[in-house]
Amino acid sequence: MNRKYRKTVIAGNWKMNKTPSETKEFMTQLKAILPKGRWCDIALCVPAVCIPAAVRAMRETRVGIGAENCNPNPSGAYTGEISTAMLTDAGCKYVIIGHSERRAMGETDADVNAKVTAALDAGLIPIMCCGESLEQREADITEEWITTQIKLGLAGVSEERIRKVIIAYEPIWAIGTGRTATPEQAEDVCKLIRTVVRKLYNSKSARAISILYGGSMNDKNAYELLAQPDIDGGLIGGASLVPEKFVKIIEAANQPAV
Ligand code: PGA
Repeated sequence: MNRKYRKTVIAGNWKMNKTPSETKEFMTQLKAILPKGRWCDIALCVPAVCIPAAVRAMRETRVGIGAENCNPNPSGAYTGEISTAMLTDAGCKYVIIGHSERRAMGETDADVNAKVTAALDAGLIPIMCCGESLEQREADITEEWITTQIKLGLAGVSEERIRKVIIAYEPIWAIGTGRTATPEQAEDVCKLIRTVVRKLYNSKSARAISILYGGSMNDKNAYELLAQPDIDGGLIGGASLVPEKFVKIIEAANQPAV
């Protein structure tokens, strides 16, 4: 973390978990134990049908609600899809884009880029995900793969807007597996991402962008991961479903910043 130049962000990704009623229950529990300190931004990205309940419950708090996907088109014949304008109108502040689980369903880098652009146009903060598979890591092409994902995902995003983007590095082999990247492995790639942003934009932008780590981050390993200079927070799946665990990760972000 580096709080001097950029925000620390602890974001939950609920995936396809919890109903609207369960959302309400979770938010009540979370509110009761939410730390008062403001050392990081807090986001919870929830299933679309849970957004209204989450927004309502967190209205008077510092927790921003987000979606897990969006459609880049403004409106039209896209049955089952949700536009960025719908998300902002529903009270969303964030949207996860290009999660590996969605990429596995066919989402391309071009789709990711269109969604990032649409999210920024609508005033949403995109949390753009990237990450390599185990095969790619073992083939030693992580650097090349991540560089390509970042370049294609950010294509056409202006220098003024890049600061509004959050990037999440999520190695696919660490997601939901309990196999967390070591702090060194995670730091190496987050640092690489910052270098790519520096080359694409400039040092100021690279210094200002928040880069999160995701992949089996939990209440036990968060402190060490967040202690890395280029890891500015976490995108948390499983552990964000339990208020106590999520709060412990928020508390882990309250440490002397590098
Ligand atoms: P996990 O998921 O924390 O359950 O590994 C992270 C994510 O997929 O965003």
